[in-house]
Amino acid sequence: MPDYRDILAEILVPADKLQVRVSELGAEISRDYAGQDLLLLCILRGGVMFLADLMRQLSIPHAIDFMALSSYGVGARKSSGSVRISLDLNQNIEGRHVLVVEDIVDTGHTIAAVLELLQTRRPASLKICALLDKSERREVVVPIHYVGFDIPNKFVFGYGLDVDELYRNLPFIGVAKPDVYVTPGPEPPARP
Ligand code: PRP
Repeated sequence: MPDYRDILAEILVPADKLQVRVSELGAEISRDYAGQDLLLLCILRGGVMFLADLMRQLSIPHAIDFMALSSYGVGARKSSGSVRISLDLNQNIEGRHVLVVEDIVDTGHTIAAVLELLQTRRPASLKICALLDKSERREVVVPIHYVGFDIPNKFVFGYGLDVDELYRNLPFIGVAKPDVYVTPGPEPPARP
């Protein structure tokens, strides 16, 4: 396994800036949800690091739960628009204030699918908190109520985001070198 330094092109958001922003978001969310029955719903796996830091910055009581979704279609690193729920949360959300915690919103398909499903369960409110917003890549319109950072269309990893399931533990958001994400084109047709 390569060391992360071998695939890192640049640090996009250093650890100290991340922590400052997470603390600001925590303060804002604590104010907005004061006195309400708040459930933080983390989307696995990328949202884990953000959730763990965010909840430590909340000064109000809250519950947590988890969902996992997978998109499939063209290539493991591309969102296809087809999203399947592989792990559902196990709490009743009817009448509760649900805040979905995501590491990144890219095309928007994952969040759109989460919102569509959860709305049918009649929460009192349903909002999104995303650490990273790669808005240039958006394919469906989704409301994001709390955003950590707007980021450019670069392949990012660290702080929950992976490269082939690795490097989620890094305390910063890095940009990967092009050879990490530029995959070879399709195989040429076989000769007769
Ligand atoms: C990433 C990320 C979001 C989703 C965003 O998850 O954590 O859930 O993609 O992409 P979209 O806006 O284009 O739908 P991924 O499928 O890589 O799973 P992971 O969190 O387990 O790494």
